Amino acid sequence: MELLIRVDLGKCSGHARCAAKGPDVYELDEEGFCRSDGMVVTDEALREQAVRGMRACRERAITID
Ligand code: F3S
Repeated sequence: MELLIRVDLGKCSGHARCAAKGPDVYELDEEGFCRSDGMVVTDEALREQAVRGMRACRERAITID
């Protein structure tokens, strides 16, 4: 199963909680905004991180399809 990560850049406020919970999935730019929009995750361990990072975002900027 593949997960497609979508990040609403209009909602991301640079809280970096996604990267704290999913350090191997979520990448931040130099200003701390999430830059993982469009990333496809297949590895099972990374899928878990992807979901944890999504749930950690208070802005609900991350969705996973
Ligand atoms: Fe942005 Fe939410 Fe991560 S605000 S940096 S997507 S925790």
